[in-house]
Amino acid sequence: MLEIGNLNAGYGQVEVLKGIDLEVREGEIVTLIGPNGAGKTTLLLGIMGFLNGLRGKILFRGQDILHAETEAIVGMGISMVPEDRGLFGPLSVSENLMLGAYLRLQGKGKSKEDKAKIQADLEEVFNLFPILKSRLKQPVGTLSGGQQQMVAIGRAFMSKPRLLLLDEPSLGLAPLVIKEIFKAVTVLNQNGVTVLLVEQNANLALKLAHRGYVIENGRIVLTGTSAELLNHQEVKQAYLGKSHEAG
Ligand SMILES: Nc1ncnc2c1ncn2[C@@H]1O[C@H](COP(=O)(O)OP(=O)(O)OP(=O)(O)O)[C@@H](O)[C@H]1O
Ligand SMILES: [Mg+2]
Repeated sequence: MLEIGNLNAGYGQVEVLKGIDLEVREGEIVTLIGPNGAGKTTLLLGIMGFLNGLRGKILFRGQDILHAETEAIVGMGISMVPEDRGLFGPLSVSENLMLGAYLRLQGKGKSKEDKAKIQADLEEVFNLFPILKSRLKQPVGTLSGGQQQMVAIGRAFMSKPRLLLLDEPSLGLAPLVIKEIFKAVTVLNQNGVTVLLVEQNANLALKLAHRGYVIENGRIVLTGTSAELLNHQEVKQAYLGKSHEAG
């Protein structure tokens, strides 16, 4: 579904990604783990079309999206939940969720969809996160961190993605809330959404995902099934210490 080959990217003269190879197959949850500053967020920004001067290959469902515009990329079926969640604090839960459906209502990227389909997807978000239904009119800025993460995921889902990119959804959240969020990711995946999950919580991420990649200093240094990585000596030492455990 997503095929990245020898990808080089960065910010101006600063090169961050140095020849990334990574693949996500349809139906998978793939996790990308690695330390602060390794280039995880940069990779997601690159996929979404937010960076200039990319070199290498990014194919989505066989189509070259290396230089595509973000709007076109969303229209093709990729959606991202950014690290800072990117919500509009003064707007309500319902307004933030509907922003995710913006392109569908505009008919850009895809043919314009009727409101009934969008309403059905909204219901799916409430099935996933029932608490949001009782907070619909509340400004998002007044929600707890966990509830905000739920809105961010719900909003990404509202664009009807085939591939969902999640940037450290567990960041700053309590173990029980993380469990709820990760459960929702599993449900989304079972309902047909392919997932690329960036995490620093390697233990949890590898338990959730089918496969994983380890990125350090802009390079993929290890890849394998989740079971392989969970049992890998270097992964254990660097990423699976006590401080990474939760839940
Ligand atoms: N806008 C920017 N301009 C210049 N350099 C940047 C910019 N954003 C990030 N960087 C640099 O790129 C490198 C990779 O950053 P990135 O945010 O991709 O790391 P990360 O793996 O997501 O880290 P974290 O786990 O802390 O989120 C870092 O050295 C960072 O300082
Ligand atoms: Mg990051």
